[in-house]
Amino acid sequence: MIFYFSGTGNSLSVAKKLGSALEEEVVNVLHFRNETEVVCNDEVIGFVYPVYGSDSPRVFKEFLLKLKVPANSYCFAVGTMNKMDQHSFEYIDQALVNNGAKLSFAENFLMPGNCIPTEGLSEEWRLSTEAERAEKIAEAVKNREVNFTSPGKKTGPDFVQAAFGGSEAHKGFLTFIIKDTCTGCGLCAEMCPTKNICIEDGKAVHGSDCIACFSCFHWCPEKAVAFNSGMEVLDKRGQYTHPDVTAAMIIDGNWK
Ligand SMILES: Cc1cc2nc3c(=O)[nH]c(=O)nc-3n(C[C@H](O)[C@H](O)[C@H](O)COP(=O)(O)O)c2cc1C
Repeated sequence: MIFYFSGTGNSLSVAKKLGSALEEEVVNVLHFRNETEVVCNDEVIGFVYPVYGSDSPRVFKEFLLKLKVPANSYCFAVGTMNKMDQHSFEYIDQALVNNGAKLSFAENFLMPGNCIPTEGLSEEWRLSTEAERAEKIAEAVKNREVNFTSPGKKTGPDFVQAAFGGSEAHKGFLTFIIKDTCTGCGLCAEMCPTKNICIEDGKAVHGSDCIACFSCFHWCPEKAVAFNSGMEVLDKRGQYTHPDVTAAMIIDGNWK
């Protein structure tokens, strides 16, 4: 089984490639949002997610806290990212260790960046080499390669609080500006992983439970979403979505 989350399609695309090479089912962690416990007894268990602030997204960590896996399962993690990841594997491992298992293989996967406040790198090679790089990871998993040594620390379950979009530090980090071009089509509301957007008087309105996936910005057909970080209006960065992933694929993956 491969568990994933994806805002703009990079992680979904990589998860699907790994799933097809390994003949493993690919499932969005949001499917389990209302469960209190998720039991997966598979021998091979993968995690594919976008790196947010050198960590995994809050919704991913919330899922990990519910997950129960066998101690002898082979677990691997792939964090898609555009530049740097300092901690995400440790946190994935920590959640597994707390449930009696551990992370065996972990790799970062460079992809076009989607973080609006930072730069938008979308070098063509990141997409043109994606299939080849995913195939290499699939081979490593087939061979049960081990490249991650678990420190084996059992720390408290409160590590979710540190996740991007989950901590006090990130509250109020973004305020949303909905431009007049918003038609109230509701695509952003359908897509939002925390159901944080509603349509009021024909316009999108954001609530306060944002994990900063930027789906609403990148997928908006009218380019009507902008952010104010406190410094400047952040709508200069162009939209990015993975070329092989559609809005319907994100929505279906999130809610079905
Ligand atoms: C809020 C946020 C924080 C991010 N932080 C990082 C980061 O710390 N390091 C990094 O290399 N990329 C970072 N990125 C870029 C994404 O990890 C990268 O573009 C990823 O492939 C997006 O995956 P997705 O299309 O599946 O959502 C961040 C993106 C967002 C939206």
